[in-house]
Amino acid sequence: QKIVLAYSGGLDTSVILTWLKETYDAEIVAFTADIGQKEELEGLEEKALRTGASKVYIDDLRDEFARDFIYPMFQAGALYEGQYLLGTSIARPLIAKRMVEIARAEGATAIAHGATGKGNDQVRFELTAAALAPELEVIAPWRVEGFRQQFPGRAEMIAYAEKHGIQVQATASKPYSMDRNLLHISFESGILEDPWFDASSVESKDMYVLSVSPEEAPDQPEYLELDFEQGNCVGLNGERMSPLQVMEKLNELGGKHGIGRVDMVENRFVGMKSRGVYETPGGTILFIAHRKMESITMDREVMQLRDSLIPRYSTLVYNGFWFAPERLALQALVTESQKNVTGTVRVKLYKGNVIGAGVKSPVSLYNPNIATMEADPTQAYNQSDATGFIRLNALRLKVASGVQQNTDK
Ligand code: ARG
Ligand code: SIN
Repeated sequence: QKIVLAYSGGLDTSVILTWLKETYDAEIVAFTADIGQKEELEGLEEKALRTGASKVYIDDLRDEFARDFIYPMFQAGALYEGQYLLGTSIARPLIAKRMVEIARAEGATAIAHGATGKGNDQVRFELTAAALAPELEVIAPWRVEGFRQQFPGRAEMIAYAEKHGIQVQATASKPYSMDRNLLHISFESGILEDPWFDASSVESKDMYVLSVSPEEAPDQPEYLELDFEQGNCVGLNGERMSPLQVMEKLNELGGKHGIGRVDMVENRFVGMKSRGVYETPGGTILFIAHRKMESITMDREVMQLRDSLIPRYSTLVYNGFWFAPERLALQALVTESQKNVTGTVRVKLYKGNVIGAGVKSPVSLYNPNIATMEADPTQAYNQSDATGFIRLNALRLKVASGVQQNTDK
């Protein structure tokens, strides 16, 4: 038997690799997706082989992640529970998609992952696998009772790792768990489980990786221009860039100016509430700039229709239904809604804020001649028409008010 394991090189997936090999008497193919987690990738191939993998895949999926996952999601304006830009959620379907491709290429019968039985990630991995490769078996060791009994805590895992010659990081493990990619870093559990714990305090300073705090950000604002074509950012400050290059540059600028930190308690799909802290510097700039681009280029009714679907779309992404027919149907509507979202947005980055500083478009729907308080040279709008417009809209309110007054008597 051959099993493809989503491997990170951390203690959990290292122990899982060895445990799978022993328990299933299987050959283990280790797979790591490079989705922009940076230094965590160093020395990984060698480590996986030493831990007992028969083959290692480390695939650079950063371009695909930016182009086919992050960008379509930002066109939709997705935001979960009003705050979360879905940095981890959107990465899982891509990792799982590549994992099943490898499983097929390798003739493996199962895939395995190290997500716990209490989280969202297990659902996202497995719904993607179900949609793309229903024939594959999924092994989630954290949901196997024998595994949990063998490893009730980190001490048992470390002992097991040492016994099997798996090198464990000498550095003291952090008092929280992190997940990093091109779009964000998430921090959860450990000291963060107390929602009264102030993650913005000076004592929490060392936790953050991508950004400085707004207090520490430069006193001078920085201007930035974002060029959009059909809802996608295609360049910065006049220079054309790929989606990956845009994300990298925006992360650098956002991080420098303390942009994109979020601290929230969110609702997991599996039912519990969970506290998360996020750094999404580039994504936050993109999100705000995209909205500003839409403000002059998008029809009112199209915008309201799309906006009404944002909670739905965001929940689909959060819950792991990226490759579900309803997400694809919504995406078709989103793509259509973005046809005219073209032009340039100028923003000012300043101490945690993304401040609008101008917007223009060759296909702008904004007409100052129509909106002006001065005389309208186009004569497109006749103020006298508003009298009838208001009278007809008022009709049912007047009728209802009359009925109300009679019943109050
Ligand atoms: N709560 C976020 C989400 O569900 C972040 C999850 C982080 N995952 C992790 N394996 N550390 O999208
Ligand atoms: C996990 O439980 O594996 C991480 C957190 C999550 O998936 O929500």
